[in-house]
Amino acid sequence: MTTVALRPAAPSDAAALAALGHQTFTQTFGHLYRPEDLAAFLADSYSVPWHETLLADPSRLTWVAGHDGELVGFGIAGSCKLPVPGREPRAGEIQRLYLRAEWHGRGIGSRLLERLLLELQQRGHAPLYVGVWSENFGAQRLYARYGFTRVGDYFFPVGEHRDHEFILRRS
Ligand SMILES: CC(C)(COP(=O)(O)OP(=O)(O)OC[C@H]1O[C@@H](n2cnc3c(N)ncnc32)[C@H](O)[C@@H]1OP(=O)(O)O)[C@@H](O)C(=O)NCCC(=O)NCCS
Repeated sequence: MTTVALRPAAPSDAAALAALGHQTFTQTFGHLYRPEDLAAFLADSYSVPWHETLLADPSRLTWVAGHDGELVGFGIAGSCKLPVPGREPRAGEIQRLYLRAEWHGRGIGSRLLERLLLELQQRGHAPLYVGVWSENFGAQRLYARYGFTRVGDYFFPVGEHRDHEFILRRS
């Protein structure tokens, strides 16, 4: 039987999370960018120091999915940083949700998402938001199943490139 267990990330996960984030972002979106834009983005937002800072910050939430001692996925959440007009002071955000490609479609992403939504609610965050690439139809279907609907748009920088993203809010 294949068992994938969820747990909160520990400070000692920083290097493994950075490697997993680097791999899964590149697998999912790497083809969209010029190599120099992708490299600049990964060097900044998927570095080990970035993850060390994340894991030392008690206001952020990071959960990992593990199998046989290896990380296969992760989710990150916290206070909402999206450019929402009139953003509510306690607004929360699902910030990253990624699995290795060979683990897609087995319910693990839904489990991670449910855990993050619960933890955000328990910390008093409301309402909850997520930013999703305008052409990531699979993720949009997933978020719709959990009550997220489109309330706006923004542009997410990857190096010099700007991704058109939807802002979704949970009703
Ligand atoms: C999005 C993701 C975390 C979902 O996890 P999962 O374990 O595959 O999802 P589940 O098995 O729990 O649920 C299946 C749903 O996930 C979504 N999904 C499945 N594969 C996907 C993929 N390659 N990319 C995006 N969403 C996907 C679909 O909504 C799917 O439902 P469907 O059968 O109606 O299409 C995972 O597919 C993934 O890591 N995708 C690539 C990264 C990504 O797009 N992250 C979201 C950024 S906002």
